Amino acid sequence: MLSKKLENAINKQINAELWSAYLYLSMSNHYTHEGLSGVANWFTLQFHEEQEHAMKFMEYMAARGSKVELQPIEKVDTSWSTLKEAFEETLAHEKVVTGLINDLVTLAREEKDYATENMLQWFVSEQVEEEESVQEILDALNLIGDKGHAIYMFDKELGKRQE
Ligand code: FEO
Repeated sequence: MLSKKLENAINKQINAELWSAYLYLSMSNHYTHEGLSGVANWFTLQFHEEQEHAMKFMEYMAARGSKVELQPIEKVDTSWSTLKEAFEETLAHEKVVTGLINDLVTLAREEKDYATENMLQWFVSEQVEEEESVQEILDALNLIGDKGHAIYMFDKELGKRQE
């Protein structure tokens, strides 16, 4: 059984992961509407990944005999004026999530819950990958600018993402 503090903190994290999923789903819908199906594909896969993160936490709670209590998911934005703005927001958001995961690790240590600390290591590594992949996209956007011809190729490239 998890401590009450950890149980509350993981329940909050599940909400943060689902909010992330909702944010990326909104971005996906925005770019579908804008005719950038490759970018929409990238955000749809990101949406799935965030749902998987939430599921991973829920399965862990169940394994430890704790009950998941889902909370309302706050509203997200529905449009972005440039691609750069959307990916900058994505990177900023992933950095916030990294901070939340680090706080969970700190709490698990304080509670001397080493199983939870061990489970969280997967998320620590995952956040490094998440930030790196978004940074790469932003680097590309900074090179090509976020309008015009090159965006066609950029969209095709993001359309290749499969997982
Ligand atoms: Fe679940 Fe993108 O962090």
